[in-house]
Amino acid sequence: MNRSSAVPAAGPIPDVPDVPRARDDFPILSRKVHGKQLVYLDNASTTQKPRAVIAAIRRYYFTSNSNVHRGVHSLSDRATQAYEEARGRVARFLNAREDREIVFVRGATEAINLVAQTFGSGHLREGDEILVTEMEHHANIVPWQMVCDRAGAILEVVPVSTAGELDLAAYERMLSPRTRLAAVTHVSNALGTVNPVREMIGMAHARGIPVLVDGAQAAPHIPVDVRELGCDFYVFSGHKLYGPTGIGVLYGKAEHLEAMPPYQGGGDMILRVTFEKTTYNAIPWKFEAGTPDIAGAVGLRAAIDYLDAIGLAAVSAHEGELLGYATEEVGRIPGVRIVGTAREKAGILSFVAEGVHPHDIGTVLDHEGVAIRAGHHCAMPLMDRLGLPATARASFGLYNTPAEVDILAAGIRKAREIFR
Ligand SMILES: Cc1ncc(COP(=O)(O)O)c(C=O)c1O
Repeated sequence: MNRSSAVPAAGPIPDVPDVPRARDDFPILSRKVHGKQLVYLDNASTTQKPRAVIAAIRRYYFTSNSNVHRGVHSLSDRATQAYEEARGRVARFLNAREDREIVFVRGATEAINLVAQTFGSGHLREGDEILVTEMEHHANIVPWQMVCDRAGAILEVVPVSTAGELDLAAYERMLSPRTRLAAVTHVSNALGTVNPVREMIGMAHARGIPVLVDGAQAAPHIPVDVRELGCDFYVFSGHKLYGPTGIGVLYGKAEHLEAMPPYQGGGDMILRVTFEKTTYNAIPWKFEAGTPDIAGAVGLRAAIDYLDAIGLAAVSAHEGELLGYATEEVGRIPGVRIVGTAREKAGILSFVAEGVHPHDIGTVLDHEGVAIRAGHHCAMPLMDRLGLPATARASFGLYNTPAEVDILAAGIRKAREIFR
């Protein structure tokens, strides 16, 4: 790691010692963009896919494609087996008690909407409260606003400090007798803050309040054990975890899922239908109306196998190193300010540069082959709180290297020069 010079030569990207297999496993990383080697630092938006995931999806379509839970023929059996095995793999990944606590959905957004529309709407009365935080992604705000509006309930918001940390004392105070659910992000997508969700769940449960944890930015980076956390719901998206788009996970404690009404109606979620009455299937299928993303589940399973083989502890340590190095290198560029300086952070670096709009930083970096995100990161209320219209955000994955951080820092310096 070159910590001594601010703008080192952008030579070949070295191996990552802690996660040595990583780079070659991702075909897209050898691409060039604008004639430059791709440096992909937009992992919080979506991650790239390893060969193992691409191959698993291809293999599924080559050898097993059929519909699930329906046919009496061999291919349907194979597809059903692959789909249900993927569910079991996710259950082990999260250390869920039972496979039936895992519902396949399109992603974190759909998972939260499912809980809001079923658990939420069933429990909400006028004057009840749903507690979220100021650092939530829109996916963990808008679904709650929608059900609150319908029920006449109130969305309460826990404040964050300028550093990007939750005010835990305020959180505890705001857990009121009227709170029906707390919905909190595990890791902030805009700032990288890791919230003390275990402690927060303990505080809520002490008052009999269930907790949904948005793990979209946590599950790919830190080991998650839903039983140890004790959360009532945990959600994440496959595509941020080196898996395909279109598949995600809702973990819910069996007793909650059993008590919740279905989300959507259709095939697969029923036991018997007459025009007079329909009886619903058992969990988790009660929540999986219609043909699911079978290939997506197969791809997600391959992604989890891949990630587990490397080890989330190693991934987490590697990304922590990169974040530390990037914070140092980007933070000492004149006129650049790091946004989000919480004590506990995962691999996300948000920053602003004096005199340069984040979009312009993004455009200059793109011409250097560097992919970052610039904007409000679907966290407009947080940007309002911080008094910023937008930030530039570099987010790290298991395949990123210190040399790529050097290229990022050099690109930011270049943007500063151009817009001086
Ligand atoms: C914290 C957080 N929650 C939820 C989401 C929504 O994920 P998806 O768009 O995959 O449903 C995101 C996506 O960026 C996120 O970062």
